[in-house]
Formats: sequence, structure tokens, C-alpha cells
Amino acid sequence: MLKLGIIGTNWITEQFVHAAHETGKWELTAVYSRTLEKANQFGDKFASTSEFFDNLDDFFAQGSFDTVYIASPNSLHFEQAKQAILAGKDVIVEKPACSNPFEMKQLQRLLDQNPDTFLFEAARHVHEPNFRAVTKAVEGLNVVQGATLTYAKYSSRYDAVLNGEEPNIFSPDFSGGCVQDLGVYLVYDAIVWFGMPGSAEYHATMLTTGVDGKGVAILHYNGFDVTLNLAKNVNSYLPGEIYGLKETIRMDHSSDLNEVYLDDGAGNKTLLSVPQAENPMLAEANEFADVLNDKGSNDAKQLEEDWLAYAVQVNKVLYELRQSAHIKFKADRVAEEVEEENDES
Ligand SMILES: NC(=O)c1ccc[n+]([C@@H]2O[C@H](COP(=O)([O-])OP(=O)(O)OC[C@H]3O[C@@H](n4cnc5c(N)ncnc54)[C@H](OP(=O)(O)O)[C@@H]3O)[C@@H](O)[C@H]2O)c1
Repeated sequence: MLKLGIIGTNWITEQFVHAAHETGKWELTAVYSRTLEKANQFGDKFASTSEFFDNLDDFFAQGSFDTVYIASPNSLHFEQAKQAILAGKDVIVEKPACSNPFEMKQLQRLLDQNPDTFLFEAARHVHEPNFRAVTKAVEGLNVVQGATLTYAKYSSRYDAVLNGEEPNIFSPDFSGGCVQDLGVYLVYDAIVWFGMPGSAEYHATMLTTGVDGKGVAILHYNGFDVTLNLAKNVNSYLPGEIYGLKETIRMDHSSDLNEVYLDDGAGNKTLLSVPQAENPMLAEANEFADVLNDKGSNDAKQLEEDWLAYAVQVNKVLYELRQSAHIKFKADRVAEEVEEENDES
């Protein structure tokens, strides 16, 4: 049984731990929270948990877990992942793994120096069978002429923004905003299905907090464009579409893929999807466990590297999109300062 430690005690961590337990391959043993009270409250929900920490150094030094699941605010992922790798722990880090390519490069360097330590970005949907069904269908198209993908969901934290507050997910200090959050899913879609775009631009609607609330991204490929509609301040029910010649791959949603059809343009629809697991994190929890349980094999290392390569590409495109819309995070300024210091020395 793989032993799991967690950072962050919000609902997403609970969902991940339920998924992990459902696989029968993981058990939660250690909880870190900024307060022991919250760590205990969270741990009380899972009988396997026996270690509780409110100090991150102690968590990594004394916790008996093998893998940490990091679900803290985005800007903290990098330092926490770094600390985990240095402590010899495998890492599952929530999307987006890093704020910018500068952080990503440092993590890659650290992983190269510690090849027995694995890091996964928790881009849950790419591990699901219906995502793979779309990948296969795209491979089957004779020609790709573009795609329109949408992920627009009113965030429960947007009310706070309207009240003049700055919740983490809408804060540039915590690497928040729409493209850096929901954009991750759609940029993964585009990169896995069509490869790296030649260039990308983002037309953002900015919020008073200094990040984007919604926007339209256009990824330019050789001969076609992919349009991404993103929002955290409205709800959209638009489906996703990928255009072949006469055929269209039709998805009920661009990330939560429940129903996927290949439409031949002549009135025939072929169902490509299978019923989804109830817990959307089950597929990733299963696949990460399988790779970790197979550690030492070439296949496991290859899969980890392939997934990481996608994470690196997604990180690059997100950064390009943000740059084009002049969206700047505190973490970008930190990166620039370090680079300037390195240039001077
Ligand atoms: N894969 C998915 O479907 C999915 C869905 C939602 C979110 N996410 C990702 O999960 C991560 C967490 O998102 P979230 O909305 O749960 O974030 P959040 O509520 O802002 O913070 C998550 C946890 O981090 C800790 N935390 C909060 N503020 C902090 C601060 N200022 N300094 C240090 N720790 C702090 C809190 O745990 P303690 O109080 O216990 O320390 C909190 O429960 C994000 O990266 C997000 O993108 C993924």
C-alpha cells in the first residue's frame, strides 16, 4: 500500500483522498495543515491517518509517507514540490504545477538530479478513458481544421471578488486567475490532441484584483486555429467540437467528458465515450499508483517523463497566453529578480 501525505485541506484534497482510497492502492497516513486543529479535523475523516503536522519541515522530515499530494494555492506549489523532492518524496502536485517556466525549469533540474523521485501534475482529465477516446478519434481524422473548446464556470469565490475581496484563486500574489486555473484543462486538451501550437494569444477580461476573470485564447497551428473560451465569472453550457473535413468530434464538455460522439456530417453519430467514474480523480489516482508501484521499470519512468513533458508544454503555453494579455504574477517578479541576479554574478 502506498502511503500518502497531503498539503491543503480543502474539498479537492478530500475528493483526491477518496479517489486514492477507492483504488485500494493508497492510504492516507499524514496530514499537513497550517493549524493542527484543521489537520486533525481532516484526518478524522480517514481511519488510516495517524500523523498530523502544522510545520512543513517536520511533515517532510518525520512523516512516514512516500508520496505527497499538494493542493495548496497555486503560488505555493513550486516551493513545496521542491521541498518534497529534496526530502525524497514522490510528488502529485495539483494543476497548475508551477506559476511560470522559470519555476518549471528548476523543478526539472531537481528531478534530473533525483531520477528516482517522481513528480506528477494532477491534470486529472487526461487520465480518463473518454479523454483517450478523443485522442484516438483525433488520430483517426484525415485532416484537422480546428477546434472550439469551452470551460466557463462561475466560481463560488467570485462573489467575494464582487465584494471587493481578493480570494487566492483570483489573486496575482497566489498565481490565480481564469487562464491559469481552467485554462490548464483546455491547454492540455490542445497539446495532447494537436501538439504544441506555433503561437498563442489571449484576449482577457481583467478583474479589479489584477487577474483575468474570463477570456478567449487562440492557439495557432500550422493550417488551423484552436479557440478556447474560458471564464470563472459566468456559466457556459457550450459543448466542445473538433473539426475534421466533414466529420466533427462532439463533446458534451471540453474537460468533463461524459458524452463524446464522432459525427460524420451525413447524419450518423458514433458514440465514443464510456460511462465516467463518479469520482473524477479516480483515473489519475489509479495511474499514479500503478506507475509508482512499478518504479524501477523503464515503462514507469517513460510514462512519468511523458506526463511531465506535457506539463512543461502546458506551462509554456499558459505563460505565453498570460504574457500576451499582460497578466503578471508575484511569482514572475521573483523569477525575474533571480534571473537578473544570476546575470549580474
Ligand atoms: N483537479 C481539480 O479538479 C481541482 C479542483 C479545485 C482545485 N484544484 C487545485 O487545487 C489547489 C487548491 O485549490 P483550492 O481552491 O482548494 O485553494 P485554497 O482554498 O485557496 O487553498 C487550499 C488549501 O491551502 C491552504 N492555504 C490556503 N491559503 C493559504 C495561504 N495563504 N498560505 C498557505 N496555505 C494556504 C489551506 O489549507 P490549510 O488551512 O489546511 O493550511 C487550504 O485548504 C489549486 O492549485 C487548484 O488549482 C484542482
